[in-house]
Amino acid sequence: MPRLLPVLVLVAVGSLGGVSAAPDPTFTRDVAPIFQRHCQECHRAEGGGPFHLITYEQAYRRREKIRETTRTRTMPPWKAVAGYGDFVGVRGLSKEEIAVIARWVETGAAEGDPADLAPPPVFEAAASRGTPDLVLRSEPFTVPGGGGDIYRCFSVPTPFTEDRYFIVTETVPGNSRIVHHVLAMVDASGGSAHIRPSDWSPGYPCFGGPRVRIDGYLGGWAPGARPWVMPEGVGIHLPAGARVVIQMHYHNAGPTAASDRTEVRLHAATTPIVKQLYFARVGSFSFTIPAGAARHEIEASMSVHRPMSLIAIHPHMHLLGREMKVWAKLPDGSTRPLVQIDDWDFNWQGFYFYRTPVALPLGAWIELTAAWDNSAGNARNPNRPPKPVRWGERTVDEMGHAAIIYTFDDEKINYRPR
Ligand code: HEC
Repeated sequence: MPRLLPVLVLVAVGSLGGVSAAPDPTFTRDVAPIFQRHCQECHRAEGGGPFHLITYEQAYRRREKIRETTRTRTMPPWKAVAGYGDFVGVRGLSKEEIAVIARWVETGAAEGDPADLAPPPVFEAAASRGTPDLVLRSEPFTVPGGGGDIYRCFSVPTPFTEDRYFIVTETVPGNSRIVHHVLAMVDASGGSAHIRPSDWSPGYPCFGGPRVRIDGYLGGWAPGARPWVMPEGVGIHLPAGARVVIQMHYHNAGPTAASDRTEVRLHAATTPIVKQLYFARVGSFSFTIPAGAARHEIEASMSVHRPMSLIAIHPHMHLLGREMKVWAKLPDGSTRPLVQIDDWDFNWQGFYFYRTPVALPLGAWIELTAAWDNSAGNARNPNRPPKPVRWGERTVDEMGHAAIIYTFDDEKINYRPR
């Protein structure tokens, strides 16, 4: 038993020196504070996680999985490579925290003294920003039990006869047990109103995109998502008469059917708006990934023709995606990292918001590489045997782009809320 030896030595040294070895971690003193900081934003009621991690019993029952998912850093989830792009709300455990959890499990996962348990953290309540000025709702939709993914878009009218600007948006799933992620998009043409489903249910099927031209994003949700809050003076533009497409990704792992109705809550500008939020996609919109290719890579770029500041970035690929890296090349030859994902997972997509907007001068380039694995060795490959896969919005198609939301530095809109 050579593995036991270091432990014995440690204990011996500890007692020789007159100090006892570190006591075994307990749930209430050592582990619960880690869960409160890093897990409970999702693993609680309304958090979107599949179970709660609040009480000792909840944690004890899943201790092996908890040790495993923290050791491999799959939990807490955060797909962007650390240090590549400076983001708000970065998730991750320190080496010490991972070690405490592992030692807690390995020493018998004791509860400890209930008096050590710190009071639970308070998560920002949905209502804390006051009454929203506009609430858009998807239609009630029922998702059968037993798993499977459903992508459904709802085309929702807006009531305004003149353009409006919003500064805070919050997307709130009606049933976070079955909502996987949500994206709310502006459809200025209103064309989404005419897309009819063939199955007579509300909304229409939409896997990769909303099937109409999109003029901007209004918000989104995935487990742990926070409201979108615009920088001072920046507004999200909603043109008069626009529709909003709410794209829902549903997954109901439970045994029985469940339904949802999701809300997008919008808070109007209260101070003058000088810049609006723009949106663009950097990527390739026409490609074929050969059947069997274990690594198919593309490069794409976009030139900065007007000085801009990036607020957030949203990498997007489908099931075969593996990697994406986006950076800016500045006119002086230097580069700015924008985002890197080296283990793409379609189930964990979201917007990464920069801690401070990334300023890109005239003449800069946004450059991107993306890679897919269309081999039989890719466990997520839906085609057996692999087939050539083309760009497109359907489940059987692929996409490879990063959406960016940004402002133009020299813009001067003169919008005053009434
Ligand atoms: C941003 C939200 C979020 C955070 C933060 C988060 N989780 Fe999760 N967790 C999920 C979701 C959603 C799932 C189910 C889907 C999945 O496994 O990806 C999950 C699944 C799990 C599972 C089950 C995995 C399996 O294979 O069965 C464990 C265990 C877990 N989380 C532990 C943790 C621990 C421990 C922490 C904190 C250190 C944590 N999670 C933080 C959202 C989160």
